Amino acid sequence: MALREIIFLPEPILRRKAKPVTKFDKDLQTLIDDMIETMREAPGVGLAAPQINIPQQLAVIEYAEQDDDEGAPPKPKKLYVIINPEIVKASEEKVLGVEGCLSIPGLLGEVERHAHIQVKALNRHGQPVKLKVEGWMARIFQHEIDHLNGVMFTDKATRVWKPQEDEEVELD
Ligand code: NI
Repeated sequence: MALREIIFLPEPILRRKAKPVTKFDKDLQTLIDDMIETMREAPGVGLAAPQINIPQQLAVIEYAEQDDDEGAPPKPKKLYVIINPEIVKASEEKVLGVEGCLSIPGLLGEVERHAHIQVKALNRHGQPVKLKVEGWMARIFQHEIDHLNGVMFTDKATRVWKPQEDEEVELD
């Protein structure tokens, strides 16, 4: 496995619609493993292939939902690999949350996202999967799927700002 270099705005590839993945070969498996390693190293909770200069519809996501109860044991992290994803259902309910992006260092923004979504995608072996996600996981999915369409969180943010030193946000 190897780390891949993350690119930043204004790299034009971040603004293009990525192409569907058609070959589920050994090179794709290597790319996926590299993306997982790069996401963990960053560290981030998600990484889309265009962010490492590869215009393909592929993203990796890893996040542990927080428990509302303080002092509850931490929940295990869930790892998703989504290929050619499509949002097939989205809740009318939307929620505001603060996002940052590995490709836009030094900027945070408040973004409205669907509270729950259903996503149709392929897994790393090319098999179709249907995923239902909610909460922060749903936010990360929407952020990553936007990346595959050339959309950055700053396009949707109701406001953006430079974080204070003590302001920490998960990046993806
Ligand atoms: Ni991002």
